[in-house]
Amino acid sequence: MNETVIKSLDKVAGKAHYERACQVIPGGMMSNFRRDEGYVPTYYAGGDGAWLTDIDGNQYLDYSLGYGPSVLGHNPPAVTRALIDQLKRFSSCESTVVQTEAAERLAAHVACAELVRFACSGTEAVYNVCRIARAHTGRGKIVRFNGHYDGGLDELLGGVVADQAYPVPHQGEREDDFFSQLANTQGRAPHALSDVFLIEWNDLDALETLFSAHGDEIAGVLMEPVMVNVSGCLPMPGYLEGVRELCNRYGAVLIFDEVITGFRMGLGGAQGHFGVTPDLATFGKALGAGFPVAAFCGRREVMDVVTRTEVIAGGTYNGHPLAMAAVCATIDELAKDDGAAMAHLQAMGTLLGEGLNRLFAQYEPHLRVQGFPGAWTLAYEPEGKAIVRHAQALGVDSHLPIGAFVGGMQGRGIVMQTRMCTSVAHNAEDVAHALAMAEDTLREMTGA
Ligand SMILES: Cc1ncc(COP(=O)(O)O)c(C=O)c1O
Repeated sequence: MNETVIKSLDKVAGKAHYERACQVIPGGMMSNFRRDEGYVPTYYAGGDGAWLTDIDGNQYLDYSLGYGPSVLGHNPPAVTRALIDQLKRFSSCESTVVQTEAAERLAAHVACAELVRFACSGTEAVYNVCRIARAHTGRGKIVRFNGHYDGGLDELLGGVVADQAYPVPHQGEREDDFFSQLANTQGRAPHALSDVFLIEWNDLDALETLFSAHGDEIAGVLMEPVMVNVSGCLPMPGYLEGVRELCNRYGAVLIFDEVITGFRMGLGGAQGHFGVTPDLATFGKALGAGFPVAAFCGRREVMDVVTRTEVIAGGTYNGHPLAMAAVCATIDELAKDDGAAMAHLQAMGTLLGEGLNRLFAQYEPHLRVQGFPGAWTLAYEPEGKAIVRHAQALGVDSHLPIGAFVGGMQGRGIVMQTRMCTSVAHNAEDVAHALAMAEDTLREMTGA
C-alpha cells in the first residue's frame, strides 16, 4: 500500500480549481452524475494502475475507474503503445482495416455479434439498437425496466407509470424511488416517453402480461442483463431464458445493454456468462479500457436493416482509428494467455465482494454488495435479504446509509460510487487496503 494514501486529503488546489471551473463549466464538471449537492469534486492529475493522484498530490485507490471503463487500470502500457502506434500511422475518420480487426475481435467473443458497428458512447449505441429494433419489426414501442439505466435518451430516462394496465411512463418522479428522482430530467421532447413501456425487471409474469395485451406494439425489450445501475440484482434463474422465449413468441427483438457487463462479466459479456443470446447488444465503457468508444452489434438478419441502409446509423467519429486501436489492444490484453487477465480481475473482485459482505454482516449497517465481481453494487436492505427487484428497494431511505458508506470510503482515499469496479491492475494488497478502510468506515458509521 502506498504510505501517502491516508495523508490528510487536503484539497486546497482542488477547491480553488472548482471555483475556476465553475466559471466556465456548469457545476464545475462534465457529467451531472459526477455531481453531489454540496460536494467539491476531486480533480485528478494522473493515474497509474489501480491508483489515482489528484492535483493536490493526494493518492487514491480507484474502485470507480471512471465509472467503469478503465478495466486494465490507468495508463495500461499495451493500450498506450497501440494508440501511439496508430497515431503515428493514421488517425482520421475514414474506412480502415483496424475497424474490421476490432469488429472481428468483438465477434470472436460475443455470441450475438454477427455484425458490428462502432459508436462513441453507450447512449449512441443504445439509440441505434432501438432504431434497428423498430425498423426490423415495423413496431413502435421499446419495453424498458424500473431501476435500469440505458443512457441519456429522452425516452429511456426516468419517468413514472400511472396505469399498470398500460404502463407507458410520463414525466415525473416517485417520492419513494430515489432512482426515479436521479433519472428524471426536464427538457425532454414532450411525447418521447409515450414510445416506451416501463415495467418491473426479474418479473416474467409482468412481461408476459404486457406481451399478451400489447405484443403487436412491441419492437424490442431493452435491459441491462444484470441490473447493475441500481442494487446490482442478478437475473433470477430462468428469467433471461423466459424473456428470450417471450421475444421469440411475440416477434420482438431482445436487446442486452452490456455497456457495463461487457468485458467485465467475462470476455463474452453477460450473454456469454448466462448462455442467453440476445438479438442485439450494446457495449461501451470497458470496451476501450478508458478510451471513448462503444459498439452495437447483433444477429445478421436484424442488423441487416443497417446493411440495406433502411436505418441510418451514422456518426463522424464512428470507428475512429484511435478508438479501434484501443478496442483491439484491450480485447487482446484481456484474452491473452487463455484469459489470465480477466481471470485475475474476477479473482480480485471476488475477494473484495466477499470481504465487504463479511464486514457488512459483522457491523450490520444493513448494506450488502450484489452483482458480479467486475462491478459490485451497494444495496441497502433493512432485513438483510438479497434484493432481486427494484420494487423491493422502494420506500426506504437507502441513499442515506449507502451515501454514508461511500462518503466514508471517499474520505479515506477510496474512489468509488454505489458501484465498485475492479481492474486487472488491482492486487490482493489493494483489496486488503480497501477492506481496512471499509472496516474503519463501518466502525465510524455504527459506533462499534
Ligand atoms: C447500462 C448502461 N447503458 C448505457 C449507458 C450510457 O453510456 P454512456 O455514458 O457512454 O453514454 C450507461 C452509462 O453509465 C450504462 O450504465
